[in-house]
Amino acid sequence: MSQQKFKAGQGGPGAGPNRHGFRKPKNIGKTLLRMFKYFKKNVGLLTIALLMVVFSSLAGVAGNYLLKPIINNLDTGIGSIVKDDLTDVALQAAKSRIMESLVGSLAVMAAIYALGAIFSYFSSRIMVSIAQRTTNTIRSELFNKLQKLPIGYFDSTPNGSIMSSFTNDMDNVGMALEQSLSQTITSLFTVVATFIMMLVLSPLLTVIVVLMLFIMLKIVKTIGGNSAKYFREQQKSLGDVDGYIEEMVEGQKVIKVFNHEQAACKEFSKRNEDLKHAATNAQTFAGLIMPIMGNLSYFHYAITAVAGAIMIVNPGNWAIFAAMDLGTLASFLQFTRSFSQPITQISNQINVLLSALAGAERIFEIIDVEPEENNGTVRLSAKGGGLAWKIPEQEDLVPLKGDVRFNNVTFSYVKDQVVLRNVSLYAKPGQKIAFVGSTGAGKTTITNLINRFYEVQEGTITYDGINVQDIDKNDLRRTMGIVLQDVHLFKGTIRENIRYGKLDATDNEIERAAKIANAHSFISRLPDGYDTMLTADGTNLSQGQRQLISIARAAVSDPPVLILDEATSSIDTRTERMIEKGMDSLMSGRTTFVIAHRLSTVRNADAIMVLEKGEIIERGTHEDLLELKGRYYSLYTGKIELS
Ligand SMILES: Nc1ncnc2c1ncn2[C@@H]1O[C@H](COP(=O)(O)OP(=O)(O)O)[C@@H](O)[C@H]1O
Ligand SMILES: [Mg+2]
Repeated sequence: MSQQKFKAGQGGPGAGPNRHGFRKPKNIGKTLLRMFKYFKKNVGLLTIALLMVVFSSLAGVAGNYLLKPIINNLDTGIGSIVKDDLTDVALQAAKSRIMESLVGSLAVMAAIYALGAIFSYFSSRIMVSIAQRTTNTIRSELFNKLQKLPIGYFDSTPNGSIMSSFTNDMDNVGMALEQSLSQTITSLFTVVATFIMMLVLSPLLTVIVVLMLFIMLKIVKTIGGNSAKYFREQQKSLGDVDGYIEEMVEGQKVIKVFNHEQAACKEFSKRNEDLKHAATNAQTFAGLIMPIMGNLSYFHYAITAVAGAIMIVNPGNWAIFAAMDLGTLASFLQFTRSFSQPITQISNQINVLLSALAGAERIFEIIDVEPEENNGTVRLSAKGGGLAWKIPEQEDLVPLKGDVRFNNVTFSYVKDQVVLRNVSLYAKPGQKIAFVGSTGAGKTTITNLINRFYEVQEGTITYDGINVQDIDKNDLRRTMGIVLQDVHLFKGTIRENIRYGKLDATDNEIERAAKIANAHSFISRLPDGYDTMLTADGTNLSQGQRQLISIARAAVSDPPVLILDEATSSIDTRTERMIEKGMDSLMSGRTTFVIAHRLSTVRNADAIMVLEKGEIIERGTHEDLLELKGRYYSLYTGKIELS
């Protein structure tokens, strides 16, 4: 409700229903049809609610119409008293008869209005509950889909646009269901029914009303046309100011480091001034419209009343159209007042409905994205104490060992931009394979392919002799401990963050993993130890500490394959030397892929691959490569630096 008010406050003539500008849906029919599928479960309730909406608007119209007989009865009643020469007693009786009938009719009228109000109350309650159920379902569907989207989707879609589907688009859909749908229906029925009643009461006055209304709309449109331009300017300025604030909040540290505070303030006040001008213009027009509309409608009302009065006073001249009497005029004037309001309502609500449909369309677009493929049928199964691969229609289980091989793998993220070319390598169980090479050489890409974030386009990757594309993705990733290059920690305690690696890990297991990663000592020194709350992304820890936690998280699951992508890049050499032992014990017995910037950490690898521009240009042990006196030698002896 409050949101509706907030957004409506920004509105005014010509302004879209939300700040992000008005977007039209692409395919109204298709999207509507799809929305209706969500109501299927609630179709009974929805029908009841919409019927109530119709009844309540008809009740309003009926109530207005009742004015006619009530006033006419009163009129003739009073007329008869004056005409007849009555005794006191008879006069009293006549008076109380009139009063009785008046009270009776007023009671009927009140009952009809009350019924309308009750219908409207219950229908809005039902619509709120339907809207909440529907948005709840759609939101869950959208979130579940998010968990199944391929990594590639996030490469090409800005996070902000996904977030906006969860917030703006969802709000718009909810708002349309809660209010706009029933308001539009109410307004439609009110307008049509009012128009019919007006025609029934007096066709001639109806023509006058419609003509006047037409002129009024014309005037408003002339003013509104200008104001739409100002409102667009206001939206744009507001967007500018918002965007600037967001950027400055995110970049606070850089601003301070470069002493840019004053420049930032100056730039901000310029944008803020622009917003003031645009908003003043827009709101001045919006402020004009209401009084103009108000005055015009009083004028309009007065003209209708005068025309009606003339028709009553000179009935003869108007007989061909309709007889006019006091009750008819009163009732007609009542309708006049309630005629123009729903018309403006409809045009406002239709904007809200269209923008909700556009939002729903964007939500459905995400829901319709092909999910990450998981066509692997080879599953992990328990065998004795250990684990093994179960290949369908094959008796013997393949023991899980952690043997990884690349056979002529060629890969590109974007068509025709080859990132890995003809990469072949093998890692026997327990071996440590290191990748070195400049930034952008393709090191991270290799690890992305092992865990199947992306699928290779040429060549194959096998795991224990099985093509990774045949292995169930969840089971494949379960056998790998991965420390990604960008550490991401979740809001929660340190303990919870480490447990992310293995959901059923005991506190002892968590502590052991932390000890291996050499995170235990710094964690114990924190006042709350393992129960220290991390803010989102762990910003209350140093970058190195975050890396240690992410190493512990990878260690806790005790995986046969370990992937460490620059896992120690932010850890100082002293700490790194200290955790070296722990790291060695973490790696022993596991196939490990290490990507490291510091060559000292890869010296003891079984094989070092030097990667340049997606190709392995040198490979061998540390000693082999030094002897080769090639790229690795130059890097190691400091002749060239890793960029
Ligand atoms: N998600 C992606 N979409 C498109 N190109 C990418 C993506 N990730 C990496 N690349 C490109 O692939 C190349 C190799 O990147 P990467 O494997 O991350 O390098 P490294 O880890 O060796 O620094 C780079 O040229 C990079 O721009
Ligand atoms: Mg990388």
